[in-house]
Amino acid sequence: MKTIGILTSGGDAPGMNAAIRAIARTAFANGLRVKGIRNGYDGLIKGDIYEMNVSSVADIIHKGGTILGSARSTEFKTPEGQKKALEVIKEYGIEGIIVLGGDGSFMGANALHLHGIKTMGVPCTIDNDMGYTEETIGFNTAVETVVEAIGKIRDTSSSHGRGNVIEVMGRSCGDIALYAGLCGGAESILVPEIPVDMKQIIEKVIRGRKRGKLHHIIVVAEGVKAEGCNDSYGIAKMIDEQTGVETKVTILGHVQRGGTPSVQDRLIANQLGTRAVELIIEGKSSLAVGIKDGKVYSLPITEAVQMKRQFNTELYTIASILSN
Ligand code: ADP
Ligand code: F6P
Repeated sequence: MKTIGILTSGGDAPGMNAAIRAIARTAFANGLRVKGIRNGYDGLIKGDIYEMNVSSVADIIHKGGTILGSARSTEFKTPEGQKKALEVIKEYGIEGIIVLGGDGSFMGANALHLHGIKTMGVPCTIDNDMGYTEETIGFNTAVETVVEAIGKIRDTSSSHGRGNVIEVMGRSCGDIALYAGLCGGAESILVPEIPVDMKQIIEKVIRGRKRGKLHHIIVVAEGVKAEGCNDSYGIAKMIDEQTGVETKVTILGHVQRGGTPSVQDRLIANQLGTRAVELIIEGKSSLAVGIKDGKVYSLPITEAVQMKRQFNTELYTIASILSN
């Protein structure tokens, strides 16, 4: 192995830059050349590639986003798209590619592996929706962002005696809602993994008001389906109408994807990025690196993407008890 490429794909995540730095510097320390592939598989197909050096990754460990750019590419999912990518890979003398992204990006890495290119997957997504790893790079920072937002919204909620529905990201995973809701002291946490009981939420608001509560924070994961409500606005409307408590909606959106990565995200970015390079140097391919029992481990991508994330019902129960 003489030359590797690095690409970031799918939704960006805080800590991606720290991982790029760890990968590039570990590669340089082992005498490898490193090519930066811009904008995920789209850039790979287009040959949007540059030679990296030690300075290319200087001063990025603390930066949100990804210096390589990220994209979603439908063309890469087609045999023609992959053929173009393989021609580019050959042209640039790339022998291995380290892919930073989520499940979809890992499938792309496996597709390249099946064409004879050595690949590694490093889990990066704020959603924490990858079943094989305890944590994905970006999740911890996103949770910190949401907890900070909940605190700020609670201030104004209390001043005005309002309710607030706060919608967070996560696709079909409720982890951001769960961890941020618990640590932000939300009154209710709605996640796709647990059926929503609007009656119970409404009764809780009424009970809270009777004992003098001035605010109500309802954290809703974007993947939630609540009967009788189309979306977060529908949830707020139902609460408003059935409790008489004015209820506002805040959709946090892409603010959750940016910002300086937390220490935890930088830590796992360093650990996972380094391991990915070591494995590719050992001649391994199509492996996903992740965290199990607090330690770095790896397994085939094909197995990793099949593993369904286990929802932490223990934490959910704690949150339910503490918010009563
Ligand atoms: P994430 O990596 O965060 O799950 P996506 O699911 O959007 O994000 O996937 C990112 C990109 O990975 C896609 O735009 C596509 O280029 C590539 N990809 C996804 N699924 C496959 C697949 N089955 N085969 C090849 N490439 C894929
Ligand atoms: O997968 C990360 C994520 O931020 C999801 O939480 C969200 O549903 C989606 O990406 C938003 O994607 P886009 O960048 O296309 O708006």
